[in-house]
Amino acid sequence: MKKTAFRFAIAVIATGLAACGRDDGRTVIRFVVQPDAGGGFREIVERFHRARPDIRVEMVEGPASTDSREEMYIGAFMAGDSPYDVVLMDVVWVPKFAAQGWLAPLDGRFPEAARGAFLPGDVQAGIWGGKCYRVPLRSDAGMLYWRTDLMARPPETFAELAEKARELKTADRGGFVFQGKQYEGLVCAFLEVLWGHGGDVLDAQGNVVLDRPEGVEALRWLAALVGDAAPEGVTTYQEEEARAAFQEGRAAFMRNWPYAWTKMQEAGSPVAGKVGIVPMVHAPGKASAATLGGWGFGISKTAKHPDAAWAFIEFATAAEQQKMLNAKNGAIPTRRALFEDADILKANPHYPDLLKVLLAARPRPVHAQYSRISQALQRHLSAALVKKETPEEAIRLAAEEIRGVVAK
Ligand code: GLC
Repeated sequence: MKKTAFRFAIAVIATGLAACGRDDGRTVIRFVVQPDAGGGFREIVERFHRARPDIRVEMVEGPASTDSREEMYIGAFMAGDSPYDVVLMDVVWVPKFAAQGWLAPLDGRFPEAARGAFLPGDVQAGIWGGKCYRVPLRSDAGMLYWRTDLMARPPETFAELAEKARELKTADRGGFVFQGKQYEGLVCAFLEVLWGHGGDVLDAQGNVVLDRPEGVEALRWLAALVGDAAPEGVTTYQEEEARAAFQEGRAAFMRNWPYAWTKMQEAGSPVAGKVGIVPMVHAPGKASAATLGGWGFGISKTAKHPDAAWAFIEFATAAEQQKMLNAKNGAIPTRRALFEDADILKANPHYPDLLKVLLAARPRPVHAQYSRISQALQRHLSAALVKKETPEEAIRLAAEEIRGVVAK
């Protein structure tokens, strides 16, 4: 665990123990969330406090990277007495958290009949060992953003994207920006390149197939961009750094999640009205693929107030709250009906197309040891991007490490 996240977790645990889950007679429940840039999460909590004055929700804004927030939850679970009754989880955390016995199954509270109102991929990502552990709050799928004022149509293949990015870069505008830092976001961006070349990490039987020629080809393409069609600094970018660059007009293309669209259209945005959003490019003869992301709520196995936690989860994932979170933070709804909501469609005319991408989005390897698979990828992908390993070496080493993980 990174030191800051660890200290943070310990401080929160200490507060949690001191408060013992009660405050002025009110029941206290806590969860960790990403930095709440649009203020939508704060508004959910305020609305809930008005609806349920007997419960106080403490929202802990953690670091921007999903990996660091996962470490905060893991630190708290391992310390034994987690202060987090509510667990706001990335799609990829569920197998590990469930396999470790850190989560309470929600099948009774969130039965199959209720799940039909949500997008199927998001529901599926909450299931492990036949039990359901997560109620989807927001969906996600990687997309390609392009500047409609700089070109007539977006590129369709990897070669076209690199070529166009190179052509459109100037002294103060890079070509293509993406999440190139060593963290989970890099894995998400790479998988789209890998799948778009026809490759994969694991096959349907769970064998590692990353080191087939498509894998090397994919990483060769991505690594060759750095310092050429993509700025050198992209190796330090997470989502928000990429968004800032693109939004300030410092890039012609961007790989990012759909939330960035909402931010691009806000008053004062230099690129408002000049942004197109399409599925990621693909190799000739292959199909585009988006990485499935997304967030949802679970309840900790040792929760002191599971009923209060559930009351909050039900409230937060209701249509009104998802709609507000979409308007404020650009969070993609998980409730199907919201893709037909007139206000949402007015602000986001591309949502019918986005829905198609979400329905076809592909999950990252579903495995209880996913974080170790991801770390092997993060380390070697990053080494290739900063030219410490060749794409061939990086793919070979990552595949070897992943074989070690899945063999156990
Ligand atoms: C987004 C996605 C999440 C993914 C993360 C990577 O938050 O929703 O699934 O792991 O980005 O940075």
